[in-house]
Amino acid sequence: MNVHPAYSFFEKHWNDPKHDIHCSAVLKACLGMIQDTDLNPEVFIVAAWIHDMGKLRDKENHHVESMHYLDLFMQEYPQFRGIYDTVKDCIIHHRTHGTPQILYGQIFQVADKVALENKEWKAFKKAQK
Ligand SMILES: [Fe+2]
Ligand SMILES: [Fe+2]
Repeated sequence: MNVHPAYSFFEKHWNDPKHDIHCSAVLKACLGMIQDTDLNPEVFIVAAWIHDMGKLRDKENHHVESMHYLDLFMQEYPQFRGIYDTVKDCIIHHRTHGTPQILYGQIFQVADKVALENKEWKAFKKAQK
């Protein structure tokens, strides 16, 4: 199986089991929304695995701190530079009070909330209690 570079990056720098489930749920919600469109799934794959990594630096400000990891990712995998601005809109504006400027960011912001209803996520949360 081919592992996406964004997932390799997530595994290498964080590999947190809780966020493995959360980010995967966010990604699935995005991919569900863009079915039968020409929207670029690569944007959501990169945004999903990186959007919460800023929690490693500062949880409160993690949407901004995650940009540090997006920049690192782009250094490691320059082939993704063409989608940098689009992924940035998704990451910076993903939180409740964010104001995404483009459809990609709007989809991503909703997906981050839909992910809370993901069945695997809910089972994980339940098992933690
Ligand atoms: Fe977040
Ligand atoms: Fe998130």
